[in-house]
Amino acid sequence: MKNLIKSDELALDFLRVAEAAAIESARTMGQGDRKHSDHVAVEAMREAMDTVAMRGRIVIGEGERDEAPMLYIGEEVGGGDFSEEMRKDFPEIDIAVDPLEGTNLCALGANNAIAVLAASERGGLLNAPDIYMDKIVVGPSCKGAVDIEAPVKYNLKAIALSLSRDIDDLTVIVLDRPRHENLIREIREAGARIRLISDGDLSAGISAAVAGTNIHALMGIGGAPEGVLTAAAMKCLNGEIQAKLEFDPERLSVDKDKVPPADEVMARLRDMGIDDPDKIYNTDDLAPGERIIFAATGVTDGALLRGVRFFGAGKRTNSVVMTTDTKNIRFVDTVHVEGGPDSVIRF
Ligand code: FBP
Repeated sequence: MKNLIKSDELALDFLRVAEAAAIESARTMGQGDRKHSDHVAVEAMREAMDTVAMRGRIVIGEGERDEAPMLYIGEEVGGGDFSEEMRKDFPEIDIAVDPLEGTNLCALGANNAIAVLAASERGGLLNAPDIYMDKIVVGPSCKGAVDIEAPVKYNLKAIALSLSRDIDDLTVIVLDRPRHENLIREIREAGARIRLISDGDLSAGISAAVAGTNIHALMGIGGAPEGVLTAAAMKCLNGEIQAKLEFDPERLSVDKDKVPPADEVMARLRDMGIDDPDKIYNTDDLAPGERIIFAATGVTDGALLRGVRFFGAGKRTNSVVMTTDTKNIRFVDTVHVEGGPDSVIRF
């Protein structure tokens, strides 16, 4: 059948794409140049993406066309190695990318930098603006129990109840930012444990939905694009994200000149089809697609994925690749052999 999304085949293609970005950025680990780390990840992801048999369109990317030369919003990707005739039969796909989530983490050699992308049928991923987003992310057991508009203590009680434990057994991840002063105080007052992170609320959100990571929720304000990618992961993992766009300088604890004026943001939101800036988004609003594919590869070591390891005969990557329609969650350990037929591969 023409134009059908074959999720399992594409998942393996997207695995290759995430691996390529992770490998290139991991080479720059600890070099202190976050822009360079990001740049090499973007280039590698873009190049690998062109080998995929699809008619892809970037909906969450590196920015608008005039500010990003590659993987910009609206860019058409994929199918580069195929003839025009063959391309006509390829599936139409929307793609959200974050070639290097945690640019600082990679530049510093700190934990939890990952290379990520998600895809769906056309219209399956919200075209979110690159502004902030308030989020709460929980795993399958707590789905339906939390409410982003409720007091922090209410949500912690609900999470504890759903997980059959006490609030002081919970660990909540929060980005370490001045804007979270109240949130952090309220979590502490409620008695839960906190893991403050310098960056990377996407990988933190994914960890909250995977049992055994000892992370039970992500709370607080991070990037909206990361929110859409988190939602794509939640669809595959059966977790939940609730979110709200945020551009009020007071709530962000920044001076007015550090964020675009409200009327400018509102106009931009309207252009993107968003009329209500106060809308509460749930997982399905952010990632309404029925056929979602999500792939992430560790760049540096993290709670869920190991970072890229280089050795004489090649390199080794650790990824997670998930699909909603075929309901597979694959943890993939790939050895990329470069050293020829005599290479020794360790288990
Ligand atoms: P980058 O990978 O683009 O550096 O983003 C890292 C990150 O920490 C995200 O995980 C998070 O959503 C966002 O930045 C928070 O933004 P800010 O650093 O402005 O608070």
